[in-house]
Amino acid sequence: MEQKELKVSAIKNGTVIDHIPAHNLFKVISLLGLADIPNQITFGTNLESHKLGRKSIIKVADKFFADDEINKIALVAPQAKLNIIRDYEVIEKKQVTIPDEVVGYVRCFNPKCITNHEHITTRFSVVSKDPLELKCHYCEKVTSEKEMVII
Ligand code: CTP
Ligand code: ZN
Repeated sequence: MEQKELKVSAIKNGTVIDHIPAHNLFKVISLLGLADIPNQITFGTNLESHKLGRKSIIKVADKFFADDEINKIALVAPQAKLNIIRDYEVIEKKQVTIPDEVVGYVRCFNPKCITNHEHITTRFSVVSKDPLELKCHYCEKVTSEKEMVII
């Protein structure tokens, strides 16, 4: 059997978010608002992964995310895998899914869009999931994965 080594300590209760592309770790931290919660959080980055080359992992103690909260990260970590931990055991594994609508956390790529000039929450429909394409509800321009900026 393959020898297993934990690069980041195990947690007793909470959520382990695994298989985050290494370069998107801080986007995930930002999307989930992890800088502003009092929970214990540990993370590792640039860990080896067969699937991703280099991956990141985040462990949030005593936190269990709602599906719509966690699905936000699908835009920057489509292969992320959630492990729900209770009493040191993995009791559930979940995949993230790209939502059909993205509200409030991506900037519209069109500099002339009203959302870039007034305090209006951005709103997009997901017209393609792979490659990711978001169509703005206000100006109808499409923001692609390359152009996507998280706000
Ligand atoms: N984990 C943890 N604390 C625990 C149990 C598990 O931090 N008490 C972490 C492990 O380090 C691992 C993830 O949760 O990163 C998933 O655990 P497990 O299913 O045991 O590992 P794998 O079989 O390697 O998971 P997979 O192949 O599904 O990614
Ligand atoms: Zn727009």
